[in-house]
Amino acid sequence: MDNKRYGHFDDQHREYVITDPKTPWPWINYLGNEDFFSLISNTAGGYSFYKDAKFRRITRYRYNNVPMDNGGRYFYINDNGTVWNPGWKPCKTPLDFYECRHGMSYTRITGRKNGVEASVLFFVPLKTWAEVQKLTLTNQSKEVKKLKLFSFEEWCLWNAATDMENFQRNFSTGEVEIEGSTIYHKTEYRERRNHYAYYHVNTEIQGYDTDRETFVGLYNEFANPDAVMEGKPRNSHAHGWSPIASHYIEVELQPGESRDLIFLLGYVENEQDKKFAAPQVINKDKAHATIEKLNTTEKVDKAFAELCQYWDALLNIYKVHTGNDKLDRMVNIWNQYQCMVTFNFSRSASFFESGVGRGMGFRDSNQDLVGFVHQIPPRARQRIIDIASTQFPDGGCYHQYQPLTKRGNNDIGGGFNDDPCWLIFGTVAYIKETGDFSILDEMVPFDNQPGSEVTLFEHLKVSMDHVIKNLGPHMLPLIGRADWNDCLNLNCFSWDPNESFQTTENKSEGSKAESLMIAGLFVVTAKEYVELCKKLSENSKNSEYSEEAKRMQVAIDAMIAAVKKDGWDGEWYLRAYDFFGNKIGSHECEEAKIFIESQGWCTMAQIGAEDGMVAKALDSCKKYLECEHGMVLNNPAFTKYIYEYGEISSYPEGYKENAGIFCHNNPWVIIGECIAGRGNDAWSHYAKILPSYVEEKYQTLHKVEPYVNCQMVAGKDAAKPGEGKNSWLTGTAAWMWLTVSQYILGVKPQYDGLQIDPCLPTTAKEYTIQRKFRDAEYTITVKNPDGKESGVKQMIVDGKPIDGNIIPYSAGKHAVEVTM
Ligand code: BGC
Ligand code: NOJ
Repeated sequence: MDNKRYGHFDDQHREYVITDPKTPWPWINYLGNEDFFSLISNTAGGYSFYKDAKFRRITRYRYNNVPMDNGGRYFYINDNGTVWNPGWKPCKTPLDFYECRHGMSYTRITGRKNGVEASVLFFVPLKTWAEVQKLTLTNQSKEVKKLKLFSFEEWCLWNAATDMENFQRNFSTGEVEIEGSTIYHKTEYRERRNHYAYYHVNTEIQGYDTDRETFVGLYNEFANPDAVMEGKPRNSHAHGWSPIASHYIEVELQPGESRDLIFLLGYVENEQDKKFAAPQVINKDKAHATIEKLNTTEKVDKAFAELCQYWDALLNIYKVHTGNDKLDRMVNIWNQYQCMVTFNFSRSASFFESGVGRGMGFRDSNQDLVGFVHQIPPRARQRIIDIASTQFPDGGCYHQYQPLTKRGNNDIGGGFNDDPCWLIFGTVAYIKETGDFSILDEMVPFDNQPGSEVTLFEHLKVSMDHVIKNLGPHMLPLIGRADWNDCLNLNCFSWDPNESFQTTENKSEGSKAESLMIAGLFVVTAKEYVELCKKLSENSKNSEYSEEAKRMQVAIDAMIAAVKKDGWDGEWYLRAYDFFGNKIGSHECEEAKIFIESQGWCTMAQIGAEDGMVAKALDSCKKYLECEHGMVLNNPAFTKYIYEYGEISSYPEGYKENAGIFCHNNPWVIIGECIAGRGNDAWSHYAKILPSYVEEKYQTLHKVEPYVNCQMVAGKDAAKPGEGKNSWLTGTAAWMWLTVSQYILGVKPQYDGLQIDPCLPTTAKEYTIQRKFRDAEYTITVKNPDGKESGVKQMIVDGKPIDGNIIPYSAGKHAVEVTM
């Protein structure tokens, strides 16, 4: 491994600074916090969309293209025949200086060439449906510079899926309007659509182009568009083909002079009766209004300052000071930032997720919100209601839904039997954070059907019932199409490569396979449910809740008994029983003798702790699953396809669900370690997948962004162990956050207050946490003079010792001293 570095952390500015544009893979960032979003790479590649990366794609992007990362917002500078871009691409003219700073919802890219500096700040202002691109050109030379500047965006014809395939139609439908310095994209506006996009610059332009082939030239590339190379716009007006937006601006700069240009890429929806200003002319009022708000440097700087304050406030809710920069920067900045991003996008749009395939996952979103709920609880609340609205009356769930329509996705359907439990997981986290029990009284439909509304609490109840009404021959939960592991398809039985592993069920008798992962997940979430029912009965004095708590406790006890009886392999928990009742994840199996998911969930559930099962299972994870880069999903890897198992056994050894380090489930085991009080083991597992701890590895081996977790790192059985893939959108973000914030540093929201229960490596001596919680703010100092791994000896709140380790909630500022 060479030790080349492509960038470094700048904690003071909460940025990652990339100093070489040729990163081993595009290193990206996300702009936008609520409705209008953009993806942006370190060379300004990427695209924008409104709410839904499939249905409302605003600009075009070419996934998996040659060269990689093709399409984006490009500025071309023609300086007396030398043509270059501030972000190096697409011209790739060597720059005298290059830097990309990815920050909290903004990116700043700076390039210098022949005495000219071009610095572009990209961000989406709060509550605004537009991306701002503030370009600052500075003449650092001693001569007058006459620059020919071309901007460039390529419009997507709204639906990103059909945009990539339906060319017989697409090539005829594109329409634009040009008004002053604004280019409008209005394809299909005359029919059912009521939305358009625009690209504006706050100065007079000397020309423009809106037809791609005219601008680029049919035999050229983005790297050498005709218009740019000749320094002459064509003033083309697109009719069909591929509409683009390019401004042409002549900029003259005296030595030392600097000039800002504000570009705005925006999106508008009009009311049906206000669509047109004149026949076939779109009503531009809303675009004008947004432009008016952002047409000067002062206005844009103010909007940027507001965005920075917004992030300051978000990152002030939970802040740790351990003195260990590598830990502090992940906890205080990047892990929380990644949690917001995964909350916003689930698994829909990244450089690995094309934005057309997967919408919002039911289980994914419930997990993501747990990493986000402390930041903006009302958004988490709304998300819970949206998710629950896609549930079926029997407690089953649509596996995914579209963010724009909020409707369940029929292509994938339901039948993933872990899904219902996650609704409890998400809802309880919300209530514990906020104390807002009223969410349980919200009336929420099934499958979005008006008239079907019941309370959210009722949704939780049917979720639990879905598990206990679907038990298999060993009284363990039926797995359905799959549990958390989408690729363990135990009811698929497919020999036909044209069948989907996710949706095919080739046995008409229905599902008989059982999952130990769901068993553990059920015990964990049902315990939460019981605690919730008890709390509700206490709050309301309604005995129905205490009866419900008792009912579910019986089910929990039965599940624990079933796991102990038929779910234990001697050294670890089994993974599943297949359709024929054969064990999966047992020492008796030829391959994949042990899986991580059931170790994680059954240890978190503490099943058989009193008999030593938990400790043994955790030890087995260290022995069989752990490797240099983390814990693999299963061991040994499958080397041949097993038709009883499905997709997992069809993957190459060491990748993805077949023995890759699927980072998402490492924290499950780490939390299991924490609950067992094994701080040293917990920490060593955690540090292996903590990006800042292995930053060097990211530069040349993992290859993906060093500031966030990726979904998968190739495991020990892989051809290239250590390669990272599928960065950004992964449940790993929320789970890493839970692990460190609640279990390692040990600050856990409970109904009545904050519980303090750290689990530390023996080397940890002292740290301080600032935690805003409801209307209170706590400064918590934890001291570990004797190098303990767990157990709180004494807690002093505002100068008074308290019993137990829960700080009783009360508004205001409090100082807490904790001694281990
Ligand atoms: C991937 C899984 C994913 C599933 C559903 C599989 O190919 O390996 O990680 O959850 O598809 O999209
Ligand atoms: C990615 C999916 O989004 C998630 O739901 C699933 O649990 C994992 N893959 C594991 O298969």
